[in-house]
Amino acid sequence: TTSLARKSILLALSLSTALAVSAQERLTTDAGAPVGDNQNSQTAGPDGPVLLQDSHLIEKLQRFDRERIPERVVHARGTGAFGVFTPTADISALSKAKVFTPGTDTPVFVRFSTVMNFRGSPEQARDPRGFATKFYTQEGNWDLVGNNIPIFFIRDAIKFPDFVHANKPSAVTGVQDPNLAFDFFAHAPEATAVLTRLYSWEGMPDSYRHMDGFGVHAFKLVNARGEVHFVKFHWASQQGLHSLRPQEVPASIAKDWNHYTNDLYGAIKAGEYPKWDLYIQVLDAKDLARYDFNVLDDTKVWPGIPEEKIGTMTLNRVPDNFFETTEEVAMAPSRMVPGIEASADRMLQGRLFAYADTQMYRLGANFQSIPVNRPLVPVHNEDQDGAMNVGHRTGEVNYEPSTLHQIPEDPDARLVETALSGTTQQKAIANPRNFEQAGEFYRALSAQEKADLITALSADLGQVTNDQNKYAMLSYFYKADPDYGTRMAKAVKADVARVKAAAAQLQD
Ligand code: HEM
Repeated sequence: TTSLARKSILLALSLSTALAVSAQERLTTDAGAPVGDNQNSQTAGPDGPVLLQDSHLIEKLQRFDRERIPERVVHARGTGAFGVFTPTADISALSKAKVFTPGTDTPVFVRFSTVMNFRGSPEQARDPRGFATKFYTQEGNWDLVGNNIPIFFIRDAIKFPDFVHANKPSAVTGVQDPNLAFDFFAHAPEATAVLTRLYSWEGMPDSYRHMDGFGVHAFKLVNARGEVHFVKFHWASQQGLHSLRPQEVPASIAKDWNHYTNDLYGAIKAGEYPKWDLYIQVLDAKDLARYDFNVLDDTKVWPGIPEEKIGTMTLNRVPDNFFETTEEVAMAPSRMVPGIEASADRMLQGRLFAYADTQMYRLGANFQSIPVNRPLVPVHNEDQDGAMNVGHRTGEVNYEPSTLHQIPEDPDARLVETALSGTTQQKAIANPRNFEQAGEFYRALSAQEKADLITALSADLGQVTNDQNKYAMLSYFYKADPDYGTRMAKAVKADVARVKAAAAQLQD
């Protein structure tokens, strides 16, 4: 016993010595061995070559060589912050999700972004802004991956790669080109409403704090009785909405093209925590067919349906490491919790696959073990191994079901059953109504906002050299609203009569 006691005292002593040493923060290799010299490589004499046996030098260069991971294929430029979501209304009649239960505060991480340009590009871009929130709920992670514009450019995921290729920097020059973007949009009249919003004040907020966020798609909320309601989510900024006018953009970029990040970090560090209220619009499942447009079409807002406030989010902490949080965070619309489910929106359905897929490529199969992505609740399943496994499973029962080690399912988490009819098909939706909401948005703008829209939109459309594409675009704007189309035609020196005639050929 005495020798055992002595041994454990010695062990404790040596551990405390080790701790004391590490507290001195001496320089080590990645394996923890002390580094003797971090300034001079090992050479063969004063004038000879550097030695391959200098494994510290080799490790340092190898690690440096591998510092970059692929940037996100879209939304590469972003910034993030931690915070908390506080529910303010009891919506248990709509959803059983605990994240909505008043009294339950849920930690969040939010990443804001621009869409089309590279990591490190100026933040003042004519682009939607990403507004993606990861809720670390008591029932696992819920990601609400939205934008600051309430609708989208296309309504079918099969068009997404083409939409992105046309809008990203050119494959030849590496520079964005309106000739390519409008070559695509001339074939996508469903983008008329979002383009009108993009080139308005909505497409150029003056900071991330001064913009709203939208879930864009319809989602299903499911209550404890299995009843379904359709909702759209809206983050309303408590800081108010402020945008840059087109003529203010160049000076803003010249002054600080990282302004949105600096503004967000500055406000949070100064204790001015930005807040957004979460609102929902609710549609009863049986009312879906009541509208003259498809309510599951992500190019549409839901006019006339009142919003109710269900909570508030406060961002109160900036990350202390950009890469380990903002860069490595993985948000996916497929990451939902019981009580929140996907609707049949065709874009959302494609997104349910694409995000987790790209994240396995961008970050590796074990990306959900990275601290910023790890749920707060324990993970129990039989997924295992793979590159960069840092382990969450123990024991040899790596299959299910098992008598030796039972992990029960939760019947309350079963998805709702949805009735189906018809045949498999490849057809566009029946009622596209591509232009109506674009016109409504245009007419609701003030005189100055209309003028700014024409200025910004004609600056890009005016660069389009292909007449067919230019007139197609102008006909869409004219169909949305004759005043809008006429002003756009004049701004790009086009023939108004030809635009009007083309618009007359368009279907609603
Ligand atoms: C990021 C695909 C539509 C908002 C991404 C990423 C992909 C992607 C691959 C990169 C994710 C990553 O690397 O972690 C798609 C596809 C779409 C689509 C295939 C259509 C079928 C949308 C829509 C919205 C949206 C409609 C807005 C509601 C975002 C946001 C991010 C993002 C905010 C950045 C997330 C972050 O900050 O990490 N998208 N997207 N996307 N997407 Fe989409």
